[in-house]
Amino acid sequence: MSKASTAVNQNVSKSYKLETDKGSFDLPVYSPTNGPDVMDVTKLYGETGLFTYDPGFASTASCESKITFIDGEEGILRYRGYDIADLAANCTFMEVARLLIYGELPNKKEKETFENQITYHTMVHEQMHFFYRGFRRDAHPMAIMVGVVGALSSFYHDSLDITNPEHRELSTHRLIAKMATLAAMTYKYAVGQPFIYPRNDLSYTENFLHMCFSVPSEPYVVNPTVASAMRRIFILHADHEQNASTSTVRLAGSSGANPFACIAAGIASLWGPAHGGANEAVLTMLDEIGSKENIPEFVKKAKDKNDPFRLMGFGHRVYKNYDPRAKVMQESCHQVLKELGVNDPKLELAMELERLALEDDYFAEKKLYPNVDFYSGIILKAIGFPTSMFTVLFALARTVGWISQWREMIEDPRQRIGRPRQLYTGEGERKFVPLSKR
Ligand code: CMC
Repeated sequence: MSKASTAVNQNVSKSYKLETDKGSFDLPVYSPTNGPDVMDVTKLYGETGLFTYDPGFASTASCESKITFIDGEEGILRYRGYDIADLAANCTFMEVARLLIYGELPNKKEKETFENQITYHTMVHEQMHFFYRGFRRDAHPMAIMVGVVGALSSFYHDSLDITNPEHRELSTHRLIAKMATLAAMTYKYAVGQPFIYPRNDLSYTENFLHMCFSVPSEPYVVNPTVASAMRRIFILHADHEQNASTSTVRLAGSSGANPFACIAAGIASLWGPAHGGANEAVLTMLDEIGSKENIPEFVKKAKDKNDPFRLMGFGHRVYKNYDPRAKVMQESCHQVLKELGVNDPKLELAMELERLALEDDYFAEKKLYPNVDFYSGIILKAIGFPTSMFTVLFALARTVGWISQWREMIEDPRQRIGRPRQLYTGEGERKFVPLSKR
């Protein structure tokens, strides 16, 4: 297995002296390329007998990574050093995929080669078609995705050896390629239309739209505005460093599980409304709000500690400023609705909600700003996707990030199985009581 260089060890800038009742200990502190210094506590338990406690990983770096950088205070997101807005404006989704996976923007030849590699893996095993038919027609598309992506490992036995770089490469291409086909098949299954085979003459994004919206009875022409909006949505969602689903993929992979199973685990984690399910939840919330007059009542509910309601599409663990993805998404939303001639009152409602929330002290003090999901749902609805498909599209795009992060983890020489510790607060030792005496 090829091993990457241990860059972080060359960046030990200082150490932190920790005083405990067992003595004082020096903990190395690393200086990253960007972002706050990181204190290495790997030897803490061995030397002091102490664990650290950090539920939700608010102060814990789980790995070293060279892929994505976020500055939440400044609202910056970069893939391999490139600003997200530049990539969204200028690149194809496959260029960004190649950048995330291999670290560099491809030249013309590299771009063509990579696009070909992906294109020629977009067909899925024919048996997959029968596999789909086992699901109820009204199953949530994410439930189907967890199942079918996990099932890929039962179809592609020839790329499961994670210690073999060629297998890892093949699984990478298969996952990115087949994700679009599986997502489109999931949509077709839900709407009761025949599955559509991929077309090799189309770009990744155009092909995905073709597999979703064409029918065998008439020719389908991809609308360039829609394709461009979709491309931007995919790029903006492609990676986001160590979020819940990516950490899930890394943790699942740390045991040596195959990449198809790891990505299925990532999809399961993404499904939750606090993560990828938020774009679906935003539209449900806008439906509930109904009209502008009701906004103040919902803003009040969101601020009420005794009410579980939150403004969906607002707030982020890392961004304490405007989510840079939300800016691009808002622009895109106006453009798509205008060019498609869609007059969706939800956009006006969303903009008014954003305005009122941003003027409110509660949101200002807690630094709660619109996130990527606030506007993406409105675009996806205008394109014609039902809300239940929104998180599937997020999963499709994020597969590129998940697989990049999984590869980086496998190639990290310090990689070990992920095994967090705990603060045990349950019962102490108890004497067993037989059933007859309980
Ligand atoms: N509406 C109202 N209050 C909020 C919201 C919100 N959307 N988000 C956070 N808060 C409050 C929260 O009640 C807490 O208040 P207090 O300090 O008084 O207890 C404070 O802000 C901090 O919130 P937190 O839950 O401790 O923050 P977190 O970092 O654990 O959670 C979050 C981040 C994204 C889960 C959360 O902001 C949220 O639930 N937002 C709505 C769901 C959403 O839009 N998720 C998509 C995230 S972006 C896409 C992705 O990366 O998946």
